[in-house]
Amino acid sequence: MSNHEQHETAHRPVQRKEMSRRQFLSYTLGGTTAFMMGGAVLPMVRFAVDPLLKKKTGSDYVKVVEESKITTEPLEVKFKIHQIDGWYESDPELVAWISKDDNGEIFALSPVCKHLGCTIFWNKKGQNEYDCPCHDARYSKDGKNLAIARLPLDEYDVQVEGGWVYLGSLKANTRV
Ligand code: FES
Repeated sequence: MSNHEQHETAHRPVQRKEMSRRQFLSYTLGGTTAFMMGGAVLPMVRFAVDPLLKKKTGSDYVKVVEESKITTEPLEVKFKIHQIDGWYESDPELVAWISKDDNGEIFALSPVCKHLGCTIFWNKKGQNEYDCPCHDARYSKDGKNLAIARLPLDEYDVQVEGGWVYLGSLKANTRV
């Protein structure tokens, strides 16, 4: 670039891009509309998503049977729990096999076989064991896996209060 050209470039006025009235109105209206829509839509989004962010409930203890009915012979007890999962509320029926151990302590086992999930029953074959009708898994009274299944039966949290047995969440068997 010659000296003359450099001199001309240095003194050329800076050209500013003017905003037209139409553009100004478009930007202003667009921004205002977006702001108002945000104010209207955000509460709706929050309302829709909120239940998903809440923790599932239904893990509290449930009163299931009178303490006096529990002996050393396992008793099948059915009970309902109230579950809230997002928008969905339900009252599924659960089953527990409840009995006393040799020390008089009450414990409750899940009826779900740890092989493939069939329902086990106490003493169907007269051997003082839990039996699974599907593939012949067997469990001791404490839920210890004796055949087929690779894990012991799960156990409920138990509380005894005011002459009643309450059951809580299921957990891995702590007795075997
Ligand atoms: S599901 Fe119980 S033995 Fe297979």
